[in-house]
Amino acid sequence: MAKVSVALLTILSLLSLLSKCSLAFDTGETRVVNITNNLGPGIVLTLQCQSKDDDLGKHDLSFQSNFHWEFKSNSLFPNTLFYCKMWWQNVYGSFDVYKAQRDDNRCASKCWWRIKQTGAFSYDETKDRWDLVYIWQK
Ligand SMILES: *[C@@H]1O[C@H](CO)[C@@H](O)[C@H](O)[C@H]1NC(C)=O
Repeated sequence: MAKVSVALLTILSLLSLLSKCSLAFDTGETRVVNITNNLGPGIVLTLQCQSKDDDLGKHDLSFQSNFHWEFKSNSLFPNTLFYCKMWWQNVYGSFDVYKAQRDDNRCASKCWWRIKQTGAFSYDETKDRWDLVYIWQK
């Protein structure tokens, strides 16, 4: 029993060491998440984005303005996740804006979003097209 827990502890501390070192494996390109309000004239979009470690704060975007930030996705441990809550008028939504497993390939640098009344569209760089990824809750 004692041997098993020692082994387990060793594995756990090795894992935690590895994930701390993982910054050294950030060979990936710098990516930009860029969210643009395309809701229409006079409609303000409020958003609040965060990852496990960072809260990027609450921001009001007027029509056609954008909010963006840069990050590096970890190529060894592809676990980067950013999600946002958004509001406009009486509409609310919450969704992932960058999820390593979904987006590492489809967005190598420009992880851009267009927020429209029909939904949230995400740019796919490999196909050069905008995909409808999220539809608002009613
Ligand atoms: C953000 O997207 C807008 C288009 O909606 C573009 O004009 C702007 O250059 C982009 N900014 C960054 C930093 O990617």
